[in-house]
Amino acid sequence: MYKIAVFVSGRGSNLKAVFNALTHKNGKAEIVAVVSDKIDCPAFEFAVRNNLQTFSVAANKKNNILSYSELLTKLKQLNTDLIVLAGFLKKIPEILIENFENKIINIHPALLPAFGGKGMYGMNVHKAVFKKSAQLSGPTIHFVDKIYDNGKIIAQECVDISDVKTPEEIAERVLKIEHKILPEVILKFAENKVIEKNGRIYLLK
Ligand code: GRF
Repeated sequence: MYKIAVFVSGRGSNLKAVFNALTHKNGKAEIVAVVSDKIDCPAFEFAVRNNLQTFSVAANKKNNILSYSELLTKLKQLNTDLIVLAGFLKKIPEILIENFENKIINIHPALLPAFGGKGMYGMNVHKAVFKKSAQLSGPTIHFVDKIYDNGKIIAQECVDISDVKTPEEIAERVLKIEHKILPEVILKFAENKVIEKNGRIYLLK
């Protein structure tokens, strides 16, 4: 079984979408860990309620909170195949990036390489897209490297936002697609159908 760790910091709607999709595709992939820098966020609470194994992590170690190197040990012990960042707001430290090369993915709520980088998270992204009067938006799933929102793009899907009246409307339309494509991409990884050829990423049918 393909093993994923989902990193979260907030609402957890993507975690929920992945959890539900994997439950229905029984036997292909499973969530072996939910990791958060905030134990009181709804995403973490969802994980606890659904009996998923949870870990809390912080750059500066405190009681009952793992350091990133301790977390790394746990993730290796669990034979984690893929780390999925689903609304995790902290920068991923190099120790994880080096040990999970091309095995960390992130979902970003805009069409990278536009509207990405430091500070571009949550509503900041949708407000910037709205202000620019972009006519299309949509989520991007990409590999995580040492630079924010910089790794190769794995999947994107566009939505027409030419008629929206508020940034919140953009967020709503994009989120709906996030919930569809994130589980789809995870299942492609589980089926070994994400390949790199000539420097591009392809999802095999
Ligand atoms: C999503 O919009 C995702 O693209 C971004 O953070 C948000 C997380 O939402 N990285 P949720 O916690 O999954 O509801």
